[in-house]
Amino acid sequence: MRVLGIETSCDETSAAVVEGDAAHGSLRSLVILSQDVHRVFGGVVPEIASRAHLTAIAPVTRQALSDAGIRRDEIEAVAVTNAPGLVGALLVGVSFAKSLAASLAVPLVGVHHMEGHLFATELEDADAAPPFTALLVSGGHTLLLDVPAWGRYRLLGATRDDAAGEAFDKTAKLLGLPYPGGRHIEAMAATATGAIPRFARPMLHGGQRPGDSDYYEFSFSGLKTAILHAVRAAERQGTLDAERAGIARGFQDALIDTLAEKSVRAAVAFGRNRIVLGGGVACNRALVARVAACATEAIGADARVFAPGPRLATDNAAMIARAGLFRLARGETAGPDLNAYATMSLPGLVPDGAAA
Ligand code: KG4
Ligand code: ZN
Repeated sequence: MRVLGIETSCDETSAAVVEGDAAHGSLRSLVILSQDVHRVFGGVVPEIASRAHLTAIAPVTRQALSDAGIRRDEIEAVAVTNAPGLVGALLVGVSFAKSLAASLAVPLVGVHHMEGHLFATELEDADAAPPFTALLVSGGHTLLLDVPAWGRYRLLGATRDDAAGEAFDKTAKLLGLPYPGGRHIEAMAATATGAIPRFARPMLHGGQRPGDSDYYEFSFSGLKTAILHAVRAAERQGTLDAERAGIARGFQDALIDTLAEKSVRAAVAFGRNRIVLGGGVACNRALVARVAACATEAIGADARVFAPGPRLATDNAAMIARAGLFRLARGETAGPDLNAYATMSLPGLVPDGAAA
C-alpha cells in the first residue's frame, strides 16, 4: 500500500510517501519545512505555527508527491498526526488530510505522534522491530517503553517535569546558545577540555529497586536548577566564557547517564537485547554511544541499539505514514469526524505487569 503521511503537530510542516505493509515500510519521499521564525521568540509560538502550516501544507505535499514520482490519484491512503501537539497546528494537517482523502476517496487514518516516533527507525533498518525497549526523547516527551509487539506498549516511565529536549533547550538558553539548543549543546560539549563539572544524575541511584516509582521515571528540573547555579557562579567570577563548554558537557553527561542507565534497566528486566531510540534528542551521538556502551556492558555482545538519522529522529511525516500503514493494516480508519487533541495517551497501552 502507498500512504501519504502528513505531520503538523509542532513547528515542522512535513509530508512523505511510504510504501509497504504492517511489518515493513520503505520511504519514497520526505519533505520537511522547518519554521525558522520561532527562533526569534526563543520557543514555538502556537499561533504563528498554525499560520505557517496553512501556507506550507499544500506546496510541501505537492513536493513530496513529485519527489516520489507519483500523481495525486496514485495515493492509496492518507495518514495524519491528530494527537498530541498544538491543537491549532494539528488541525491544519487534519483538515487538509481529511479533504484530500475525501476527494480521492481513499482511507484516512489518525496517527498518535509518539507512535510515529516509535516506527521511525524501522524505515531505515528492518531489524528495528519488536520486541524491543524504546526510549522516546523529544522536546515535549520523555517515554520509556517496553514493546513486545507493534501496537502493544508497556509504559514504564515518563518525565515528572521537563522533557529531555526541553532540558537541553533550557540549558542552551542559560548558556546563551540559540533555540532549539540540543545540537548546540552537543557541539559545545564536544569542545570541553580540562575538568568537567559533575552534576547529580537525576532520579538515578544504586538504592533503586524494580517496583520503586522512581526506578524508570525521569525528572530534569533539578538538573536545570543546578546548571542555573553553576552559570550564576561562573558569571560572578567572570569565568563563564572559559567554563561554558565544561558546563554543557557536565549537563549532557548527567542527562545522558540517566537516560542510558534506565533504558538498559528496562531492557534487562524485560529480556530485550534491542533498544530503539526516537525523537529529536536521539540525534545526539553521545547519547546513542552511551546507550550502546551500557547495553553491551549489561546485556553482552548481542545488544543492539538503533537510532534514526537526524531527518527521521526529529518530527517528520515519514514516521507518521509508517505508523499509519500499521494501523491501516488492522482496519483502523477514521471518518470525517477525525479531530485533533492536545493530549492523548499512546494507543495500545498494556499494564506494565511483571518483569517478563
Ligand atoms: O522530536 P522533535 O523534533 O520535536 C518534538 O516532538 O518535540 O525534538 C526536538 C528536540 C528539541 O528539544 C531539540 O533541542 C532536541 O530535540 N535535539 C537535540 C539534538 N537535536 C535536536 N537534543 C540533543 N542533542 C541533539 N543533537
Ligand atoms: Zn516529535
